[in-house]
Amino acid sequence: MLARIVELLTPSLGPGAVLVDATVGLGGHSAALLQAAPGVRLIGLDRDPQALAAAGRRLKDVAPASSFELVQAVFDQLPEVLADRDLDSVQAVLFDLGVSSLQLDVVARGFSYAHDAPLDMRMDPSGPRTAADIVNSYTGEELARVLFEFGEEKFARRIAAAILRERQIAPITGTARLAEIVRTAIPAATRRTGGHPAKRTFQALRIEVNGELDAVRSAIPAAVSAVSVGGRVAVLAYHSLEDRIVKRAFAEGLRSPLPDDLPVTAEQLGTPLRAVTRGAEAPGSDEISLNPRARSARLRVIERVAA
Ligand SMILES: C[S@@+](CC[C@H](N)C(=O)[O-])C[C@H]1O[C@@H](n2cnc3c(N)ncnc32)[C@H](O)[C@@H]1O
Repeated sequence: MLARIVELLTPSLGPGAVLVDATVGLGGHSAALLQAAPGVRLIGLDRDPQALAAAGRRLKDVAPASSFELVQAVFDQLPEVLADRDLDSVQAVLFDLGVSSLQLDVVARGFSYAHDAPLDMRMDPSGPRTAADIVNSYTGEELARVLFEFGEEKFARRIAAAILRERQIAPITGTARLAEIVRTAIPAATRRTGGHPAKRTFQALRIEVNGELDAVRSAIPAAVSAVSVGGRVAVLAYHSLEDRIVKRAFAEGLRSPLPDDLPVTAEQLGTPLRAVTRGAEAPGSDEISLNPRARSARLRVIERVAA
């Protein structure tokens, strides 16, 4: 959805505008936006130092070094990052949530159930706990809650019980062993449907390791507050839990603060935000066939129309 994001963010990116790419990753979106809107100042955030290094290499080929700055930060630190630079407002903020292809493809980082690797899953390799720490220390109840809430896994209790049994034999330290524990814990009939049986468990652990939903919950309202009138916030989410948080955060500003029964319409009153996308936009079938990982992407964009 790169082209669509460029199309929807460039109207707010005149010369001198400040764009925050809150998840700069490998710099793909940032590079395209800098090319489409020359004269923009980019602040690119990522919690992953390997991603920032890759983004730096990519961006220097498309824009002068003075036009971008890359900062290692969790995106819920956005207000501090802007305050440190004396910025009261910015003109666009982009979130492309989740993991990067670099994180998924570097087997050693332990995000993938498809290859055996240490059970890590930290986006920031200096983060305090790995997926192995969680799997080997949480109670059965805590594990079941994580799998149910963050993986929407209906066999959360069975999987948690299997993890508890297995870790008594030996600590669970590798992705392949965990994937096998999950596979054997769920009913045989279910194993044949709905993709890899460990997919939901891995998603849930990744979200827990990185505190992903809490960061999204506080960063989206902060980004909405940070954009000036005419500024836009775009969010690309990859699962329904994230998309629901984004939808709710945007809805706050799309609703009038006044009671519904006043004899004036919301348009007459003016709400602070305007929806640029109608609900969430999904990628087209062409894009999904080129990049199957894009299948679950959902894009929402708002514009600030009043302070
Ligand atoms: C889907 S990738 C972004 C890809 C990027 N748009 C590109 O074009 O290359 C998501 C990136 O966001 C980073 N990330 C995820 N959650 C984060 C958070 N809470 N704070 C900062 N970075 C985060 C990940 O480390 C990853 O590099």
